[in-house]
Amino acid sequence: MKVAVLKGGSSLERTVSLRSGARVEDALARLGHEVLPIDVGADLVERLQTERPDVAFVALHGRGGEDGTVQELLELVGVPYTASRPGACIRCMDKVVAKHALRDAGIPTPDFYAFSQAAFEELGAAKALPAIEERLDFPIVVKPAGQGSALGIKFASRAADVPNALVSAFSYDAKVLLERYVPGRDLAVSVIEGPDGPQALPVVEAIPTEEDFYDFESRYEIGRTRFVCPADLSPELAERAQELALATWRVLGCSGFARVDLMTDGEDLTVLEANAIPGLTDTSLLPLAAEAAGIGFDEFVTRVLDLAVQ
Ligand code: DAL
Ligand code: MG
Repeated sequence: MKVAVLKGGSSLERTVSLRSGARVEDALARLGHEVLPIDVGADLVERLQTERPDVAFVALHGRGGEDGTVQELLELVGVPYTASRPGACIRCMDKVVAKHALRDAGIPTPDFYAFSQAAFEELGAAKALPAIEERLDFPIVVKPAGQGSALGIKFASRAADVPNALVSAFSYDAKVLLERYVPGRDLAVSVIEGPDGPQALPVVEAIPTEEDFYDFESRYEIGRTRFVCPADLSPELAERAQELALATWRVLGCSGFARVDLMTDGEDLTVLEANAIPGLTDTSLLPLAAEAAGIGFDEFVTRVLDLAVQ
């Protein structure tokens, strides 16, 4: 098949996407496909119309690539593509929308509150801070609603820390999620869709070796984080994490593949978010979990493409 690999783009996760894309291209070449690498820019539609690939592997992360925008364009030009449809991408990329959907479905997720920048400015800090304190127990985590790879995330241990955290978050997005901080272990469950429906892969635990927080650098620098797969959990807890990941996948309407991030205190589990196009780099969690399930990277790519062109 002639496979366009959409990568790069202009999001803040561009460098991660280039690494995901390169790994996919290598697999496609090994598998004997004709590879058409595309660094996504303004000429995307023209290139797709001229080159007419059979399918597009979307290896984009973040805004413009993982949020439904490119998926809508692919629908428009009629090129089959991998992973989730536009609606699911929108729901996953907007952490506030995703949290509402999870809560409505009864999936455990930390308490939260959200502000647009306009609403925060209209209310003013003097009214907004008491409103936050009333709704959420501290400490909290302040996250830009539409970013990935932990970009712009700040902790606030008390209300006085919130204004600075908001300045950081608002520099990444005009909407922020304020979420009760849940201490515990960082888990991730990747899901791959197969002929019999979605399959939850073994649980991965990310253990940062230096920082106490799984931040942008610790995600992508080899050696900064220790990944344990399958995570050292009781079989019951691991199974429950996988069930929650599948429930999250269904609620958000994902397809192809995705990764659900969770926390555990050793007993309870909470779902933080789902990633519609999780990283596929050498330090990313989905390829690691797939490997642990006996699904090598080439097989993963084959499965995902087969599903896209079905
Ligand atoms: N946002 C990055 C790519 C991830 O979730 O893996
Ligand atoms: Mg994410």
